[in-house]
Amino acid sequence: MNRSRFLQNLKVFWEKNDIPNISLDNALYLRDIIQKLQARNILEIGTANGYSTIHFADEIEKWGWHIDTIEFSPNSFQLAKENFQEAQVWHLITQYLGNALDVLPTLEKKYDFIFIDGMKKRSLDFLLLVWEKVDTWGIIVIDDVIKFRHKMENLYEYLEENKTPYIVEQIDADDGIMILKK
Ligand SMILES: C[S@@+](CC[C@H](N)C(=O)[O-])C[C@H]1O[C@@H](n2cnc3c(N)ncnc32)[C@H](O)[C@@H]1O
Repeated sequence: MNRSRFLQNLKVFWEKNDIPNISLDNALYLRDIIQKLQARNILEIGTANGYSTIHFADEIEKWGWHIDTIEFSPNSFQLAKENFQEAQVWHLITQYLGNALDVLPTLEKKYDFIFIDGMKKRSLDFLLLVWEKVDTWGIIVIDDVIKFRHKMENLYEYLEENKTPYIVEQIDADDGIMILKK
């Protein structure tokens, strides 16, 4: 099965099983950013079944660059592992099993593209932990910042108080993303 058909099936199947994957529009938008940035090192918080990770891997495959992705649910970790094998992108991805709040301080790399899609109310904690890991020209994207703004009030307050520039892009009817540059 080709990879885009595999991704389509993955999304349809898991929508029925309540896995909150990013939308296809969002995936395409993020892939476009990755392409423009020529991102070499990607970090993702919140792997779930690996849908977004496989999209990113498909984008960077031609350059052979790399993705680190963190997930704390052992079931999702295992499911994603199987999906990475099936989509034949396993060699582009390092999976970390654990709470991102514990795993992030152990990662020593710098990243060009960081995607925060874990527990919404911890978005600010994730941001603070990844801030020093953004490489020159790199960006951080936080998902679901419109529909779940009520779970992220501390994030918005922090950014306003510290005068940290950010933009919010509505991607589709469902939700939007926040983009931050250091
Ligand atoms: C919205 S889903 C991720 C969807 C995925 N990025 C996609 O679009 O295909 C959020 C995932 O983050 C995981 N998660 C939430 N908080 C986490 C944390 N503190 N550390 C690691 N994983 C976390 C959840 O178990 C869940 O699988």
